[in-house]
Amino acid sequence: MADNPKQSVAVVGLGYVGLCSAVVFADRGFRVKGLEIDRKRVRMINRGSTPIHEPGLKGMLKTALRSGRLSLTSSYEDALRDSNMVFITVGTPSGPNGAIDLRYVRDAASSIGKSLRTLDYRLVVVKSTVLPGSTDGLVKTILEKESRKEEGTGFGLAANPEFLREGSAIWDSKHQSTVLIGSSDPTSIRALKGFYRNLNLGRSRYLVTSATNAEFIKYAVNAYRAVTLTFLNTIANICSRTPGGDIDSVARGLVDIAKLDRRYAKAGIGFGGSCLPKDTRALAARATELGENAGLLEAALRINDTQPEKTLEMAKNLGVSIKGKKVTLLGLTFKANSDDLRESRAMLIARKLIKEGAVVTVYDPQGMDKAAEILGSRVRYGTSAKASLKGAECCIIGTDWDEFRRLTPKDYVSLMATPVIVDGRRLYRPSTFAKGGVQYARIGSAD
Ligand SMILES: NC(=O)c1ccc[n+]([C@@H]2O[C@H](COP(=O)([O-])OP(=O)(O)OC[C@H]3O[C@@H](n4cnc5c(N)ncnc54)[C@H](O)[C@@H]3O)[C@@H](O)[C@H]2O)c1
Repeated sequence: MADNPKQSVAVVGLGYVGLCSAVVFADRGFRVKGLEIDRKRVRMINRGSTPIHEPGLKGMLKTALRSGRLSLTSSYEDALRDSNMVFITVGTPSGPNGAIDLRYVRDAASSIGKSLRTLDYRLVVVKSTVLPGSTDGLVKTILEKESRKEEGTGFGLAANPEFLREGSAIWDSKHQSTVLIGSSDPTSIRALKGFYRNLNLGRSRYLVTSATNAEFIKYAVNAYRAVTLTFLNTIANICSRTPGGDIDSVARGLVDIAKLDRRYAKAGIGFGGSCLPKDTRALAARATELGENAGLLEAALRINDTQPEKTLEMAKNLGVSIKGKKVTLLGLTFKANSDDLRESRAMLIARKLIKEGAVVTVYDPQGMDKAAEILGSRVRYGTSAKASLKGAECCIIGTDWDEFRRLTPKDYVSLMATPVIVDGRRLYRPSTFAKGGVQYARIGSAD
């Protein structure tokens, strides 16, 4: 795609959202300056190696660097000099009591503000997930103070919450069905719409509202998904104890009749990752702070925290006493096609198995290095799914990787000491596994 020198943007914070957005922007012909404070991360990215695993990211990163359309800098002045738009994509983790920690957004806004002192009009876009009121409140206040300019004339400001999903972040960034823009400033709205139009996302719709309501939409969507998934898992747990009950059949009904989003109609050990638990917690904390009842959100989070334990219960029901048993845990990341362990339900299973005295072997196609930093010598590490099953007395499936889906009953029978499988992700057909001589149980079905 041809370069468009008028369209230069800066991206501040090169994590899952920032790096994937930056390479997609570069792929679509924009000149992109990426700014990241983690030096190790900068060195890796500059070498063309990715600090995170996302399908398609590595190839696109190399192309973006080679073409010169993506370059990294550690200087805000340098990042903003040639860019008419700057996206803030820094992390917004949970702080004490689950409330949002905005320190990285504050730092980024402050540095951007200082750079704006000597520059003419730039549009600042908050893509990080921040609580309603943050863009028009905290971010605007910092930018105005540091730049000594006024929003609207000195610089533009908009919220533009991100909806990409890890594991399909590149695809999602290229195919956004709805672009959410939060601003009351017509110039900022026009500029952001123009940017996304040039990004050529196909049939994107633009949902334009105030910054506060755009921020609300992001939280409401994530909290809705968290509550819905917990609802589905609650029904799945009842199905598990009901002869003939099967959550997939029930979920089909929920999709058709209650219009449940098909992508979120998958029962299992619960939701993890960097968004759903953190954002639901932050919204609950804000509700409490405002004197409102956060009971529904808190219940979803509480149930989600105990859902992984179902796998140990099921193993015990199949006669595996856990203590002293060789248990293999297949999958550690919070979902397939990602290396992200943040709030992973599978990692909760690993911890619970260790606590109950199992001899644990873990394996994950992408999450091993990060897992080793957390679990250390308390577990053994397999080199492949098959290798990690050798001699095991029980296998628990914690992540829905295709490598695990491809395993057959024969693999389990030939490799394990006793072929007992507890499937927290519903990867297999029970009839095939029952015939194959395996003891098999999965969340959401009684048989
Ligand atoms: N990960 C997702 O799937 C996802 C999806 C939608 C929205 N979000 C939201 O997007 C934001 C970013 O999430 P993420 O998962 O990419 O986070 P991340 O932790 O993977 O990346 C954040 C990056 O920002 C860098 N950083 C922090 N402060 C900086 C500063 N002052 N200047 C430059 N770089 C700085 C960090 O070093 C890190 O590399 C969060 O608010 C998150 O809630 C995430």
